[in-house]
Amino acid sequence: MSSSQHDADILDQFTRQAEPFAQRHGYSQDALLDLMADAAAITPEDEVLDVACGPGIISCFFARRARHVTGLDFVPAMLDRARRFQGEQGVSNVTWQQGSSIELPFASARFDCVVTRFSFHHFLEPAIALAEMKRVAKLGGKIVICDVVPRQEVQERFNYWEILRDPSHTRALTQPEIQALGQAAGLEQVSVKVVPFERDLEDLLAGSFPKPGDADRIRALFDAEIAVGTDALGVAARRENGTVRITYPVAVFGFRKRA
Ligand SMILES: C[S@@+](CC[C@H](N)C(=O)[O-])C[C@H]1O[C@@H](n2cnc3c(N)ncnc32)[C@H](O)[C@@H]1O
Repeated sequence: MSSSQHDADILDQFTRQAEPFAQRHGYSQDALLDLMADAAAITPEDEVLDVACGPGIISCFFARRARHVTGLDFVPAMLDRARRFQGEQGVSNVTWQQGSSIELPFASARFDCVVTRFSFHHFLEPAIALAEMKRVAKLGGKIVICDVVPRQEVQERFNYWEILRDPSHTRALTQPEIQALGQAAGLEQVSVKVVPFERDLEDLLAGSFPKPGDADRIRALFDAEIAVGTDALGVAARRENGTVRITYPVAVFGFRKRA
């Protein structure tokens, strides 16, 4: 896919997802936030960058623990939602910046900590994004990546149905692939934790904007999977009280830029 087509998909999807994503994730604290804070070992003196900040959930969470947070996102509607979220949360030490992960509009070695959540599976060039995150981190600074990490044997099927659900999804990487990216970037890996992240399939689809017919294709894939009792889609699909429940494997990686 060309990068301009991908940029158009990101803009389209996340303009529409800004409100449902904020509603779904912004008003109940999930365990990932604390895990990211642990991995970042944040201090009140820290200057933090949140890459692909979306509606500002991670930025506002870190703002309560750091001196200042900059939230960067490609999509103006997400940044508008982030400004509203910031107002609702009553935090003042955050600024918002439009930009792309592959060319971060910041000087080198500016941030004590660079974080990102649920973004790498939308990147066409994750190695370039990570190189940029490293560039803007100070020596000894921390880099925290949180993302879904399908098992290698189901990775292709996982990415297949996720692209049906959200055409701006590129490729979710496995845990070893993200670790290898960190190693190739010359980062020191200091921690990794994989945790289950549970969702209701219909709730997920309600906040997604697949192409016409694709939501039903996804339902059919899950019905077939549950009928045969396999885990080929990579999210331990099962029916509970009449609804389809899924569990994403999500990893939080802590890296350090070597001093
Ligand atoms: C699934 S949302 C995650 C939002 C936020 N990080 C969170 O976890 O609450 C993904 C975000 O990545 C942004 N995004 C995708 N590709 C990007 C890129 N290349 N540069 C900057 N932002 C990007 C989208 O606009 C969207 O807001």
